[in-house]
Amino acid sequence: MAKLGVVLALFSLLATIPWTQSFKVENWATMLESQKKTVTSLQFYFHDIVSGKNPSAVRVAKANDTDKSPTFFGALTMADDPLTETPDPKSNLVGRAQGLYGSAGQQELGFLMAMNFAFTDGVYNGSSVSLLGRNSPLHPIREMPIVGGTGMFRLARGYAIAQTHQLDPTGDAIVHYNVTVVH
Ligand SMILES: *[C@@H]1O[C@H](CO)[C@@H](O)[C@H](O)[C@H]1NC(C)=O
Ligand SMILES: *[C@@H]1O[C@H](CO)[C@@H](O)[C@H](O)[C@H]1NC(C)=O
Ligand SMILES: *[C@@H]1O[C@H](CO)[C@@H](O)[C@H](O)[C@H]1NC(C)=O
Repeated sequence: MAKLGVVLALFSLLATIPWTQSFKVENWATMLESQKKTVTSLQFYFHDIVSGKNPSAVRVAKANDTDKSPTFFGALTMADDPLTETPDPKSNLVGRAQGLYGSAGQQELGFLMAMNFAFTDGVYNGSSVSLLGRNSPLHPIREMPIVGGTGMFRLARGYAIAQTHQLDPTGDAIVHYNVTVVH
């Protein structure tokens, strides 16, 4: 029935488009064709290294009062974090998480995450997904929206489930990500 609806919509569209512009209909057909959905689930470990000589995440800005805030409100960090297959940092690299996280909570530690997960392994090499959402890192499980993608993940929408695997006193963290996207 849904298919019939689409076909009917296309026909009523045809009826209103002058024939001189009929090339547009082909674009519509391509678009409808590309709307066949695939669901992909990806799992990997995110390594956020803030300590030591070679951090993968660095603070790039803060507010005057950030250091007085128990939640580091106003701190902004730029990350280029490796994504690996297992929690072991030396395991197979599957991509990198590149982007920003900013401390956006005054009452509770809460990050605004704006990140691209750029994959470099296997069939997803060269494809990426974009995450934009709220991360309360002290909660055991967080959910964040996936708002788009490129390559194999073009037009992707979905969600990411993040679960802290390890948190060191230095602030270094290993986080398990389970990303489900429709594309
Ligand atoms: C931030 O701190 C600096 C140095 O203490 C001060 O000059 C400046 O006025 C402060 N800015 C705000 C917006 O409070
Ligand atoms: C991913 O693609 C790049 C560019 O095509 C290539 O140089 C690289 O070797 C590929 N990596 C893997 C792990 O296949
Ligand atoms: C990851 O997500 C998929 C799809 O939602 C689910 O089937 C799977 O159980 C999840 N795995 C973990 C470890 O959370």
